[in-house]
Formats: sequence, structure tokens, C-alpha cells
Amino acid sequence: MASLVRRLLLFVFLLLSLVSHSGAYHPNDAPANTNTSACFPALGFTTPSNVPASTDGWWCDPVNEYAFLGFSYEVTACQSLSQLQKEFADIRNNFNSRYVRLYGACDREGFYDDVVTAAWDNTLGVHALIWFGYDGSSKWKSRRDTLFSTLHSNPKAKFVTRVVQFGSEPLFDQVISPAQLTAEVIAAKQNLSDIGIPVTVSDLAYGYQRNGGAQDVLDAIDSINIIMLPFFAASATTGDQAWGNVQDDLNFFIQNGNGKKMYFDENGWPSITYSGVKPQSKVAVASVSNEQGYFGLLDEHCTDLKTVVAGGIGWFAHIYSDVQEPGYGIYDSSGKLKFPFAPRTSC
Ligand SMILES: *[C@@H]1O[C@H](CO)[C@@H](O)[C@H](O)[C@H]1NC(C)=O
Ligand SMILES: *[C@@H]1O[C@H](CO)[C@@H](O)[C@H](O)[C@H]1NC(C)=O
Repeated sequence: MASLVRRLLLFVFLLLSLVSHSGAYHPNDAPANTNTSACFPALGFTTPSNVPASTDGWWCDPVNEYAFLGFSYEVTACQSLSQLQKEFADIRNNFNSRYVRLYGACDREGFYDDVVTAAWDNTLGVHALIWFGYDGSSKWKSRRDTLFSTLHSNPKAKFVTRVVQFGSEPLFDQVISPAQLTAEVIAAKQNLSDIGIPVTVSDLAYGYQRNGGAQDVLDAIDSINIIMLPFFAASATTGDQAWGNVQDDLNFFIQNGNGKKMYFDENGWPSITYSGVKPQSKVAVASVSNEQGYFGLLDEHCTDLKTVVAGGIGWFAHIYSDVQEPGYGIYDSSGKLKFPFAPRTSC
């Protein structure tokens, strides 16, 4: 699933000064639960056997959610329900995950119902995704309609779907204009308002920057899903030295994000290079120890990331397995852990 991000050059941007916005930001969803352990999908929370009457007080307050949240999970394989159950159980129980961020697309009928079932059964929230892909087709429109229908029809969907991502790097790939994307986000928020599901866009800082900042998109989304792949920065070296590059991109969103909650969702460092995954920097190193080093860096900066606006950065590891995207997996393609992975979930 190589994307343009691996092919095109990224610019180096001046280090922007850190501007913090005060005041917690709450998207247009139901009142959140401020008890940090008695809410979905807190670690230790037990999902009830029956779906509650409403989502009032159901979700953990995003202000209390930061550090490692879970995995980016590619669905192009159209995993069966039993595989979803098995891997979501692993994601929850062996890594203390709270969320899964979907990536790619599966157009099998009922697939998102299976995701909902596996997420509910394993106490995982989901960042659902409307996938554009790279073929310039308008398939995303039927994916949008199918997802919105399922979100309304499946009684558990609103209890596990934390947010809908309107695209993964749609601005970077320039598959839709900022104005059109803004209109889609606003329409999606309206469509999903009765079930309290907010809407975001997953993109790189450069995705916004190459579109004149795309402030209209930043203003429309409820929270900000950031694609953070510092391996591709012009000044990249090793995974454990990527903090400056992380800050560069993060500062763009701190400055322009109106104080909204932020996540690093497509977030990682590849262990191999191949056609489509080539660095811009001659000294950027792809290896398992650098993949590990990058996640170690985020752990080391846990308290720095926690101080970021709206309760701090929650981050995902991109990606669950090399089977899903070569080189980025925590597991290799034979299902073996590439390195010990036990990131902090609080600090
Ligand atoms: C939070 O929820 C837990 C688990 O239900 C409960 O034991 C605890 O008393 C609650 N804390 C507060 C402050 O309500
Ligand atoms: C939401 O979107 C679905 C799928 O496009 C559509 O069937 C439904 O009528 C929409 N609902 C609202 C309230 O806009």
C-alpha cells in the first residue's frame, strides 16, 4: 500500500514557535465521562453485555486520553470476523490498546459490522475511515454512504466508533480540493450528529501546507488526525533523533488547529526501504532498531506530548503487521514481534 508520501519530497519548514491555546475542546458528541476508568474504552473497563440506552457518559473524555492508544490497522485484506476477533484481542490484551485506527478499504458487504462486533467484544474504540485510494475513482462516495448507513443501522456502531476519518492523506495526495473536503466534512458531521460521531481528516502537515494551509478544513474537523512519518523529512537521520521533525509538524497544527484534540495516527518509522518507501535524506536509516527507536522516542517524550493542548497527543503505532504494510509492522510477516513493544499508556 505504497502512497505518494513515500515518493514525493517533503519540504523543510521553519521551526514555528509554540503557541498554546487554553481551554479544553469538545467535539460535537455526547457528554463524555470524566471518570477515567469507568468509561469506554479505558483500560480496565468492562464492556456491558447489553448496549446502553445512549452514549451520554459512555466515552472517555478525550482530554484524559494521551500516550499510546493502539494500532493503525490495514483492512484491504478484508479480514474475516474471526481474524478481527483474534487480532483485536491481541491488540487490546497484549499491548493495552484503547483504539484501532483503520487504514485502507474493504468493500465487502457487512465488513464494518464485523469491525464493530470485534471492537465491542474487545473493548476497542475505532477511528473509522473513508478511503479515497490512489486511482482517482469516485469509489469513496459509495464507501461514505455505506459507512454512514452502517453507523446508523448497527446498534453497537455508535458505541465503538469514536470518529470518522474523511480520508487518509487526501490533501497530500490532492484527490479532493480543500473546499470540497470541507463541504464533505460539514455534511458528514450533520449526517452523523444524531448518533454523536465526530469527523476528522487524517493528513500530514505538508498535506495542509501544500494546499495553502487548508484552514477551512482545519476549522471544520472536530479533532485532528496527524500523519507523522519523520523518516521522510529532509533532515531525517535515525528514529531516536526524530524529535525535531516531530515538533516541526506538530507545531503547524498547534498554531493552526484552534486548540483541537490531536492524534498521531499514521505514525511510525519503516524498518526497510523499497520502491515507494525511500527517504529524502541521504542519512535516514530504515531498520528494525530505528523503528523501535522512534517509538522509544515518543515514550521518552511522554510528558512533553501530554502537555500539548486538549489533554495531549494520543498516538497509534503504524502498523500492526508487516503483512499489512511491509516494513512498518510491529509484527513481521511470519507473525513474530520485531522488537519488544510495550509503550506507555500514561505518564
Ligand atoms: C470511577 O469508576 C470506578 C469504576 O466504576 C469506581 O470504582 C470509582 O469509584 C469511580 N470514581 C469516581 C470518582 O466516581
Ligand atoms: C446519511 O447518509 C446516508 C448515506 O448516504 C443517507 O442514506 C442518510 O439519509 C443520511 N442521513 C442524513 C440525516 O443526512
